[in-house]
Amino acid sequence: MTKARVFSGVQPTGHLHIGNYLGAIQNFVRLQHDYECIFCVVDLHAVTVYQEPAELRAKIREIAALFIACGIDPKVATLMVQSSVSGHAELGWLLTCVTPLGWLERMTQYKDKSAKQETIGSGLLNYPVLMAADILLYQAKIVPVGDDQSQHLELTRDIAQRFNSLYGDTFTVPATKLPTHGARVMGLDDPEKKMSKSATGTGHAIGLLDDLAQAKKKIMRATTDSNPAVDFDPGAKNPMGAGVRNLLGIYQAFSGASNDEMQAQFAGLRYGDLKKKVAEMVAQSLEPIQARYREVISGNLDEILRAGSDRILPVANETVRLTKERMGVYAP
Ligand code: TRP
Repeated sequence: MTKARVFSGVQPTGHLHIGNYLGAIQNFVRLQHDYECIFCVVDLHAVTVYQEPAELRAKIREIAALFIACGIDPKVATLMVQSSVSGHAELGWLLTCVTPLGWLERMTQYKDKSAKQETIGSGLLNYPVLMAADILLYQAKIVPVGDDQSQHLELTRDIAQRFNSLYGDTFTVPATKLPTHGARVMGLDDPEKKMSKSATGTGHAIGLLDDLAQAKKKIMRATTDSNPAVDFDPGAKNPMGAGVRNLLGIYQAFSGASNDEMQAQFAGLRYGDLKKKVAEMVAQSLEPIQARYREVISGNLDEILRAGSDRILPVANETVRLTKERMGVYAP
């Protein structure tokens, strides 16, 4: 039996942090053995808002190298850059032509992002169509994404269904939801908000490439509550706050400790000592990732990425050909 195809994309903007690692990348690392996975650095999405060209160029390589450093094996999974396969842009256009404007104007991410821009590029509006093209280009069945992307994924399904009903069965309609079992890591400075790649606060996120001494300091400064020590009792007079829960969650996700082990290690521990343990665990976990990253970024990364897109190119070409044929666009 052939394995179901998985596609996911990551934008080369901001810095990948431990929330990305524990919530998504670790999950990808597990998926790569059970599915045919394509992991794509989506640089064409990044330029929907202005990017400093030299920074973008560096960021694309950084993200790809970090994926490998985190355990994506480019011999097992396909790791590629979106702009290397022209089918993404090409299919993006063809799908734009079957997508009603109203569907795009409804997208909450578009509304949020466009509210922050002085001039709204039309690429920002079309962003989700390009995302649909990424997925449909490879006829991917499974798309592991965070909750913030479910509306885009739903739109992908709508576009696929609309195309299929207009022109005949062409695209696999991807599953809406993938059970993701990753930790949900919150901001260290604000444990009510999910840790974010674009947040600017210096104490908010721990980047995978952060200097380890700095990373430890960020943990030591993390927001907690006013209780003196860890109390797991849900009926406690002052139940544990979100900040402490977040730190415990980070420790547990990195260490793989069971709930019992967590209780045994942390019950009654003062917050200062809790933070020291979490800081140690984070530093110890990031160290090998950073070492591997330095090897990969100075090695044959570009060849690896080229091999990734070359390997998947025939699939993309076939989808573009079929789409053109179905639509009556010249495809001799
Ligand atoms: N929009 C996604 C994000 O910001 C990135 C992305 C682009 C993506 N194309 C994709 C994710 C295709 C999954 C599948 O996170």
